[in-house]
Amino acid sequence: MSHEVTLIPGDGIGPEVTAAARRVIDASGVSIIWHEKLAGQAAADAVGDPLPDDTLESIKRTRVALKGPTGTPVGSGFRSINVALRQSLELYANLRPVRSYRGIRTPFEDVDLVIVRENTEDLYVGIEHQVDDLGAVGFKITTRKGSERIARFAFEYAKRLGRRTVTAVHKANIFNASDGLFLACCRRVAGAYPEIDYQERLVDNLAAQMIRRPRDFDVLLLPNLYGDIYSDLCAGLVGGLGVAPGANIGEHGAVFEAVHGTAPDIAGKNLANPTAMILSGVMLLEYLGEFDAAGRIRAAVESVLAEGWAVTRDLGGESTTTGMTDAIVRRLETTRGSAQALLDESSRVVDLVRAAAAAHHDGTVWNAATDEFVLTAVSYRDGGGSTSHVNPEFDQLVVVLEGEGIIEIAGERYPLHAGEVAYVPKGTRRQIRADGERLVYLTINRKR
Ligand code: NAI
Repeated sequence: MSHEVTLIPGDGIGPEVTAAARRVIDASGVSIIWHEKLAGQAAADAVGDPLPDDTLESIKRTRVALKGPTGTPVGSGFRSINVALRQSLELYANLRPVRSYRGIRTPFEDVDLVIVRENTEDLYVGIEHQVDDLGAVGFKITTRKGSERIARFAFEYAKRLGRRTVTAVHKANIFNASDGLFLACCRRVAGAYPEIDYQERLVDNLAAQMIRRPRDFDVLLLPNLYGDIYSDLCAGLVGGLGVAPGANIGEHGAVFEAVHGTAPDIAGKNLANPTAMILSGVMLLEYLGEFDAAGRIRAAVESVLAEGWAVTRDLGGESTTTGMTDAIVRRLETTRGSAQALLDESSRVVDLVRAAAAAHHDGTVWNAATDEFVLTAVSYRDGGGSTSHVNPEFDQLVVVLEGEGIIEIAGERYPLHAGEVAYVPKGTRRQIRADGERLVYLTINRKR
């Protein structure tokens, strides 16, 4: 089944990182019909409107969007597209998971918390005006409906994902009416979830705790402004804005976007870290129920981060946006599935593989060429192996029938175990070595 998704490249590094996310999602095999639409400065320049009706209509129809960051010039009178989008689509919950990744050196390991930020109220309603030359006022709006709704979202999320604690963040000692109402609503909703531990923290006090013991926190439930600030702070705790994904979720749809902005200092230079946008794409796939593809992309991203050789400069590497994306796509395509899944792919392949598997013994024993497939069964003893360049017209699948081995594809090494399949893109140099008593595998070269 195909999904329809609105794609907003946005401004600055947006087009670069959304293109990366789209490439990775497409490489996962999920079928998506992308509807590319304008928003932000790009839309203002092209059609004189930073949030064209056509873009809003598309999201209302598809109900799901992947959005690059959009620029909001400071003090220009130009209202933030993000705020307008969240309000007009009632995307009331902003969800930002914050996790440590192996390979990214930070002062803390094992951080695993989730920010649930109210997205439509607070100082972000945009009611402010200049009184005179000496001053201006802005309104902080808090409603019972908005506060209860976000609190329920946070507890439901915690319950569904088996999280232990929800911590409401506030400054009710100063903002008695507004934060006081928020807190009262959180307490009321918490009463309906006795299985989840409920805590409260003053927003300023939380700052000190967060930079000393971030592992103490699980789900943070915050009004809009505090949530905005803690999103960036927590992103900083685990490696910076380049790795922090996010989602804006409402009852009728969702917009997935990274925490970071347009990064004008590195825009157009192929330097942006695509991870945050790719992980936002993972959240999008989970929202669409595509859990298998989401899991495979997450694993591919995590392994590229853990190895650290193909990461962008913000993570201490020397790779580019496209270089890191290439590595993630390659890793995704090399992700091993079960041999059975491959064998089920087509009955003709099944027959050929069965015949080859039945005939295998040491050495190359069987080779059948058809219009589309060339199969070879190979067996090696300890340490033995082969190096080859895969035919530029064929992708190669390596199906491991028995034993253990190592495959090196374009300089990257992966373990091979019986029952797994490795994918080698066409034209790539690959090396396979037995790692143990015996390795028996089939190669299937297929034209695609
Ligand atoms: P920013 O997030 O764009 O940049 C802050 C710093 O982080 C910069 O040094 C930038 O180079 C770095 N950075 C951000 N993303 C990165 C990535 N993927 N890889 C490597 N480095 C990265 O925040 P800033 O400068 O405050 O805002 C710039 C513009 O973005 C403003 O117009 C702002 O309104 C807009 N913005 C848009 C957002 C959205 O559309 N969701 C969110 C935040 C800001």
